[in-house]
Amino acid sequence: MNDKQLVAEHAASLVEDSMIVGLGTGSTANYFIEALSRRQRDEGLRITTVASSTISAIKAAEHGLPLLDISQLGHLDLYVDGADEITPGLTLLKGRGQDLVMEKLLARAAERFVVVADKSKQVSRIGEKFVIPVEVMPAAWKIVRHALEKANGEAELRLNASKDNVAVTAHGSYVLDVRFPDWLDDAELDILLNNTPGVVEHGVFRGLASLVLIADQGQVDVVHA
Ligand code: A5P
Repeated sequence: MNDKQLVAEHAASLVEDSMIVGLGTGSTANYFIEALSRRQRDEGLRITTVASSTISAIKAAEHGLPLLDISQLGHLDLYVDGADEITPGLTLLKGRGQDLVMEKLLARAAERFVVVADKSKQVSRIGEKFVIPVEVMPAAWKIVRHALEKANGEAELRLNASKDNVAVTAHGSYVLDVRFPDWLDDAELDILLNNTPGVVEHGVFRGLASLVLIADQGQVDVVHA
């Protein structure tokens, strides 16, 4: 069993009967979907799930998990998802998979948000390894870029995989990939991005994780917020 599988199995063990469970996106979240489906089959666990992306919904359906649409839910018991970066203060960078509006919605709506990752995701500051994805209203992308540049950000409009068109999210937004100077901390970034009109959502997840499970060479470190 690899480290991502190990944390995914640990997270699946936290699921209780009758829970409404949010499913994240990415390779670690995929292992969680598999582990949850196994518990459903072997233990008769009754659960309802909601997916953070189309790809996770497809995976969940393939594994026989009962899925609800987000529009049918007022709350979730548990949301389990991976992350791209995790700081010592448990701020996360998420959204490389592009559906970060849904990811933040589920993280906020859940009673508990459990993050599953391997050690490679630990960083000293947000933006250390990756650019910060910022979902914007298509009509506002230049205005938002200008506003972020005034705050010393360098923003690039994300293109599709074949680089012949603009990338469009499942919710019809464009994405700016933004680099900020390292003296801007995650609290300042969060406030700046929350307060920029035209920003639909952004990849800085601050104060949302309840529990972070980090695997390193076969051991799981459990960090409570
Ligand atoms: C998806 O948009 C991201 O927030 C993922 O949670 C992240 O990319 C984790 O992916 P892995 O589990 O594949 O590392």
